[in-house]
Amino acid sequence: MKTLGLAVLASTVLVACGDPPASAPASGPLTQGATLYAAQCASCHGAQGEGQPNWRERKPDGRLPAPPHDASGHTWHHPMEMLFQMTRDGIVPPLAPEGYQSDMPAFGKTLSDDEIRAVLAYIESLWPDEVKQMRAERFKPQTSGR
Ligand code: HEC
Repeated sequence: MKTLGLAVLASTVLVACGDPPASAPASGPLTQGATLYAAQCASCHGAQGEGQPNWRERKPDGRLPAPPHDASGHTWHHPMEMLFQMTRDGIVPPLAPEGYQSDMPAFGKTLSDDEIRAVLAYIESLWPDEVKQMRAERFKPQTSGR
């Protein structure tokens, strides 16, 4: 839980900021991202990115429910490259401990890299400006991911 645990700390801070987007953007990669999100992610992460109920509590099988992708969750705490890896490969090492059990599917065989980036751009569009600013400060351009 090392990598994911860090996220939980700050996750209560912004709970109130999740104004739902007024409408989907008209065109471009965000539209593609929104469509892919609705088809591939919404069943678990919620139509508006609200996550599953009681997402902080482990289920009886010990696994975590799907967290929100809107500002009330911890998706935004992670650098884009890490979100990309988690979406492509699932929650696996090096981002999770060896043997970690998760219900998050790996989308590397379902979605192309560009499609994954489009979905993540859509998720990013759910975040308010404060969140985007915090991310810009926290994740100053780095040349190497790790
Ligand atoms: C079958 C249900 C399911 C589907 C469908 C699903 N997810 Fe997930 N996702 C989860 C669960 C459960 C977790 C939490 C896993 C954990 O921490 O063990 C998660 C976690 C994540 C995380 C990590 C969030 C964080 O802050 O740690 C990302 C990023 C993510 N999902 C992206 C996506 C995207 C993008 C899609 C659609 C392309 C998607 N997920 C579809 C169940 C799902």
